[in-house]
Amino acid sequence: MDDLTDPVVHDSERAAEAALRPKRLGEFVGQEKLRRQLDLVLSAARGRSMAPDHVLLSGPPGLGKTTLAMIIAAESEGSLRLTSGPAIQHAGDLAAILSSVSEGDVLFIDEIHRLARAAEEMLYLAMEDFRVDVVVGKGPGATSIPLSLPRFTVVGATTRVGLLPAPLRDRFGLTGHLEYYSDSELEQVLVRSAGLLGVSLHPDAAAELSSRSRGTPRIANRLLRRVQDWAEVHGDGALSFHAAASALELFDVDARGLDRLDQAVLDALCRRFGGGPVGLNTLAAAVSEEPETVETVVEPFLVREGMMSRTPRGRVATAVAFQHLGLASPASGALFEA
Ligand SMILES: Nc1ncnc2c1ncn2[C@@H]1O[C@H](COP(=O)(O)OP(=O)(O)O)[C@@H](O)[C@H]1O
Ligand SMILES: [Mg+2]
Repeated sequence: MDDLTDPVVHDSERAAEAALRPKRLGEFVGQEKLRRQLDLVLSAARGRSMAPDHVLLSGPPGLGKTTLAMIIAAESEGSLRLTSGPAIQHAGDLAAILSSVSEGDVLFIDEIHRLARAAEEMLYLAMEDFRVDVVVGKGPGATSIPLSLPRFTVVGATTRVGLLPAPLRDRFGLTGHLEYYSDSELEQVLVRSAGLLGVSLHPDAAAELSSRSRGTPRIANRLLRRVQDWAEVHGDGALSFHAAASALELFDVDARGLDRLDQAVLDALCRRFGGGPVGLNTLAAAVSEEPETVETVVEPFLVREGMMSRTPRGRVATAVAFQHLGLASPASGALFEA
């Protein structure tokens, strides 16, 4: 999956994304509850002149986890250190990072569910006791030297919170789950981004784009840039409804914002497997994708749209899914309601 509606960020996109990232909590659109919780935790920490408690952020890609980590650092006036689970292969990698943190730093660990086991255990200790045991030397002569750490804040992000071991999850003082954005929230994101890009976005174009952005700010911003391209090449530069509709059609975004992979999964589920139930691995194989991608990227969106349910027996399509594909629902009674 490597198209416009891919909620996963690719290298070429980083600069464009960085320019549109809200820098402060007040600029962050939506996620009302989480925003208020963070605001409280950050204000209290400021009042105590202490690093805020550790924060775990979970949710599908493109909803603002990295952005919030940066905001936490900015609001608490700490420096941000960035790493990720897959980048930490050994406990030593984490020890090196931890031994260089300063008071008040925010250590952002993306994809924290992919941390190596030994690193996880080191992290428990660091998060709870602000201490790390550094092993010096190898073999029987190795000794472990306890090193105390300054007070810092871990912000973990994950698309799969269920994979985090309970002891790690428990060490976060605040756990926030990011939800898909409503159309009106996405409109606010788009209006803000258009302002930053210095382009004029017609309200009906904003409405059309927001309803077709998969509930995801990253996708909304990406589509906005493609509409801008379309308007510059084929139009007068203004982001009209016509420009939006034309760009969306060009990039295969359907009326409800489903992209090619969403459509393929739904199609396989309804046509090939008669609406299910079907197991995740079988479904993923049918569309030649990794089960993890189907589970963390496609399914949460289809479930939220009321097109699919996850049941103990497997994935099941709803009547809404058949309708969306223009198919008659199977009369077998195997169909579940959303
Ligand atoms: N609440 C929000 N308000 C405005 N823009 C947002 C918001 N959440 C995300 N974005 C935009 O979407 C992009 C992707 O967000 P990011 O934090 O990288 O997502 P994640 O880390 O969850 O995959 C960012 O560049 C940012 O511009
Ligand atoms: Mg991220």
